Amino acid sequence: MKQQTRAIYITVALLIALLFIGCIGIPLISGSHFSVKSNWNIIAGGNDKGQGTKPDDTGKNAGKPDVLTESEESIARRAALKEDLDKGLFILVNKQNPVDSSYKPNDLTAIKYFAADRSEVGRYLRAEAAEAFNLLSETAAEEGHQIVVTTAYRSYAFQSTLYNNYVKIHGQQEADTFSAQPGKSEHQTGLAADVSSPSVNYQLTKDYINTPEGKWLNDNAYRFGFIIRFPKGKEDITGYMYEPWHIRYVGKTAAKEIFDKGFTLEEYLEKEI
Ligand code: DAL
Ligand code: ZN
Repeated sequence: MKQQTRAIYITVALLIALLFIGCIGIPLISGSHFSVKSNWNIIAGGNDKGQGTKPDDTGKNAGKPDVLTESEESIARRAALKEDLDKGLFILVNKQNPVDSSYKPNDLTAIKYFAADRSEVGRYLRAEAAEAFNLLSETAAEEGHQIVVTTAYRSYAFQSTLYNNYVKIHGQQEADTFSAQPGKSEHQTGLAADVSSPSVNYQLTKDYINTPEGKWLNDNAYRFGFIIRFPKGKEDITGYMYEPWHIRYVGKTAAKEIFDKGFTLEEYLEKEI
């Protein structure tokens, strides 16, 4: 009888123990092991806007520890952008961000291809941009298009004269849609150029986009590190009407990304840099 009682006690104790393990066993298995929160963009050195590199999911690192590393491509991209940033290629000059009246880049370099009847003082860009423009113009010529600068670098004084003339002719409200007030033109940075071609008689006109040269420029400028700075449909962001002739040097890495994403420089700097 005593043995029977002990057996009953032991059986009941075992049942209680099994029940207990069963209860806590479910969350142990389905919980902690499978709900690890991914923070790959922090580990991989992504920027503070949440960009980074996804964990390797190609299978080629199967069996190795699950360490999340930034891809070589992403590292190279960040290095290239950092270099261009340090060179001052992302300087933002617009209606909200003026530049000092005395600002003048110290590496202005004569460009090779320009409209002969325009002011000689406007035939300069910063060294890297000048070289890139020369290559753009030479490549365009090889493909049958003549693309030349009308004005590139403009001093504060040059821009003042230009703007004041436009105001006299068109009134300030209209002038402000296509001409920057002195100190607010990125032509003063030595990174922007107005370009044109024989098919529009070297004028600056919206029709440029309907010419073979204007189309070529629109589709190929990024290959040389330039962007179309005032795109169609982005007037509310740039503050200016569509200017298919105004190109801005930002370096090849940013230019390609801006081209691919259809961004303005303002959007790109806000979202990507
Ligand atoms: N046309 C551009 C906005 C400038 O004057 O800089
Ligand atoms: Zn311009």
